[in-house]
Amino acid sequence: MIAVYDSGLGGLTALREARRLLPGEDFMYFGDTARIPYGTRSAEIIRAYARQSLDFLAVFSPEAVLIACGTVSSVALPMLKERYPFPLYGVLQPAVRAACAATRNRRVGVIGTQATVSCGRFRAELEEKRPDLSVFQAACPLFVSLAEEGWTAPDDPVASAAARRYLDCFLQAGTDTLILGCTHFPLLSGVIQRILPGVTLIDSGACAARDLAAALPGPASGRGTLSCYVSDAPEHFARLAERFLNEPLPRPTLALSRSAL
Ligand code: DGL
Repeated sequence: MIAVYDSGLGGLTALREARRLLPGEDFMYFGDTARIPYGTRSAEIIRAYARQSLDFLAVFSPEAVLIACGTVSSVALPMLKERYPFPLYGVLQPAVRAACAATRNRRVGVIGTQATVSCGRFRAELEEKRPDLSVFQAACPLFVSLAEEGWTAPDDPVASAAARRYLDCFLQAGTDTLILGCTHFPLLSGVIQRILPGVTLIDSGACAARDLAAALPGPASGRGTLSCYVSDAPEHFARLAERFLNEPLPRPTLALSRSAL
């Protein structure tokens, strides 16, 4: 069984791609909906949330865990890799590889949560891999709330106004490639693409799912099942999740003990 973890709905963008590529694998999804957003919090708190979440997933003895969260991948992945016995896949490196392959004018943008942008891991990876790149970054924290609210239609007036304000700097900079460094953001790709026509959008969750699929040894070991856990408000999650996953979602089960939250 492969576990996919995010703070909320965003990781479904990675799960959808992983399910498409690995139809014979069993998956479980965990969204830490009691504590979303992660991206506005300190690195120390994000690491603590990630540890508690992985302790919960570890009980199921997953074959691998896909950290379908740009924030946790940026802030906590090396620490988590030391702590757990199963392989962990994050979104950062696969997205960076895809962006390096996609750019033609060597001007690459990164958008993510505040925590992701402040910790600078995307920038550092891009510059290390390709010192010839100019890298531009912006935190877009409202995109997380818009995605969780389901205000994601390409012509949604609120989402479009926020996108115009956040993304104008990339128009000015002439970036030809933009990493969606938060897994919630592909839910808004219609809105983003209208503000940045012609720019290649890199879906970091989907890139990570491809990385995972390529790395798994041998044929699928499951029956294609899917189970879903959240730490709060399962009904709200279920209502929006199906739209993003493109398949029926099993009823989410409440996870993490109330006293741990
Ligand atoms: N989906 C997340 C990410 O990729 C986190 C959003 C949040 O919890 O702030 O960064």
